[in-house]
Amino acid sequence: MLSTGQAAGLSNGVKVISFDILSIFPEMFSSPLHFSLLKKAQEKGIINISLHDIRNWADDKHKMTDDAPYGGGCGMVMKLEPVEKALSAIRKKNREDSTVILMTPQGEVFNQKIAAEISEKKRVIIICGRYEGIDERIREHLVDREISIGDYILTGGELAAMVLIDAVSRLLPGFLGNPESKIGESFSRNILEYPQYTRPANYKGWKVPDVLLSGNHAKIELWRKTESFRRTYKKRPDLLKKLKLSAEDKKILDKIKKGQI
Ligand code: ADE
Repeated sequence: MLSTGQAAGLSNGVKVISFDILSIFPEMFSSPLHFSLLKKAQEKGIINISLHDIRNWADDKHKMTDDAPYGGGCGMVMKLEPVEKALSAIRKKNREDSTVILMTPQGEVFNQKIAAEISEKKRVIIICGRYEGIDERIREHLVDREISIGDYILTGGELAAMVLIDAVSRLLPGFLGNPESKIGESFSRNILEYPQYTRPANYKGWKVPDVLLSGNHAKIELWRKTESFRRTYKKRPDLLKKLKLSAEDKKILDKIKKGQI
């Protein structure tokens, strides 16, 4: 088992999550999890990631984790016993409550709300499916939640698990240097973020909007709100249906729709 970080639950009063990943390719995780904020979060002990190779729980001499489907058909099926044994071993070592997630295209489609729900857990065990499918008894008896990261088929659940870990981890207190940076962001409020700029103010004639250089905070705030609405209306109008708008917000949106601003 490859492991990083510290114990699950609370560390010095700080919320910590432990992720156990079950995969036949645990090495796939080494590089993406060891850069930038995910690396720092493991060093700080905010997240703890343990990688488990399912093959270690395969009994036969070839360490088989797949087999042909009963009833015939093409492709191979992920075997039940190695996954069940791996889960038992992880649970025996760590007695706290855990949630078992299966990454699969058949699952509920991942979003910010699900990320927030998972961020409340102490221990998350993720099974990365492979092959044409998994033995249905894994789903029936061992899994609490099935999650897909979108309506397309990946070669396995590993990349999907990385997406989930990234989105969940950044919600933990202390993960982001500036806790405010996740408050105003898209999807936590069902609205896209306003455009951002940094220096230089003019590059080859491509200019930063004057209002952002004005120093007038009320005007800047109104501009940002208007641009957030404009973006959401243009790019993700579906999100607007979920928004609770004040009378003032409705007026702004109405003007955008009519092309008045
Ligand atoms: N495994 C293969 N495709 C997947 C997807 N879209 N989401 C989660 N796990 C997967």
